[in-house]
Amino acid sequence: MQRKWEAALLAVTLALNSAYAGAEEDFIFWLFNFSRTKGVKPVTDKQYQDECSGCHFAYQPGLLPAKSWEALLTPDALRKHFGVNAELDDATLKVIHDYAVDNAADKSWYKRSRKIAVATTDGPTPLRITELRYISRKHNDIPEKMVKGNKGVKSLSFCDKCHTQAAQGVYDVDTASIPNYSNWDN
Ligand code: HEC
Ligand code: HEC
Repeated sequence: MQRKWEAALLAVTLALNSAYAGAEEDFIFWLFNFSRTKGVKPVTDKQYQDECSGCHFAYQPGLLPAKSWEALLTPDALRKHFGVNAELDDATLKVIHDYAVDNAADKSWYKRSRKIAVATTDGPTPLRITELRYISRKHNDIPEKMVKGNKGVKSLSFCDKCHTQAAQGVYDVDTASIPNYSNWDN
């Protein structure tokens, strides 16, 4: 109970200070959908969904703070996107950049986004979700052979290989299952 109040208070503070339109609407939505807003907000932009799902599933913008999307979604950065060329034409890039920044962790009421936002306020700009301490910590106990050494996964970056509801923004333990290791936690 106490945590709910803390979260609500934080949300009100944010809403009052908010620099973006629609904050109050989002806050009200969040309040009335509390149980459904535990994860991160699912992707709602079709262009983002289409352009960013060619090589991995489309990461929800709420998995990184705005400063990370600012750094990742420039013409130069996309040409050298983790060793591959993921460049976009200027018009498409603008839509995708603005969508990601507007829905970044630090602009979201969803529980996991709030945690990511708080953990990344200070310090360097993370360029990967997997490098966030909040995320890497959660996977510390999973042996390498089940991730990199697992043909069905290959990299911790492929969240949706194990998180069966990743596309819906749900990353709960009870919806996680590691391919080829059905009894991973035994
Ligand atoms: C041409 C292929 C390709 C496209 C298109 C692409 N990516 Fe990637 N992306 C990659 C590769 C390769 C990696 C690194 C995966 C790994 O390390 O296993 C990556 C990693 C990432 C990561 C870091 C994941 C982690 O490890 O935490 C983010 C964030 C990301 N991409 C966002 C995007 C966004 C947003 C778009 C759309 C603009 C996009 N990507 C389009 C190939 C692509
Ligand atoms: C190899 C399979 C695998 C991959 C890939 C993977 N996860 Fe996980 N994840 C798990 C498992 C298994 C757990 C539960 C760990 C535990 O409880 O010890 C977990 C836990 C989590 C949790 C904590 C859940 C909770 O309720 O505490 C989050 C958040 C999460 N993962 C997000 C991600 C994200 C985001 C990605 C991609 C960047 C990712 N995971 C990639 C298997 C994976």
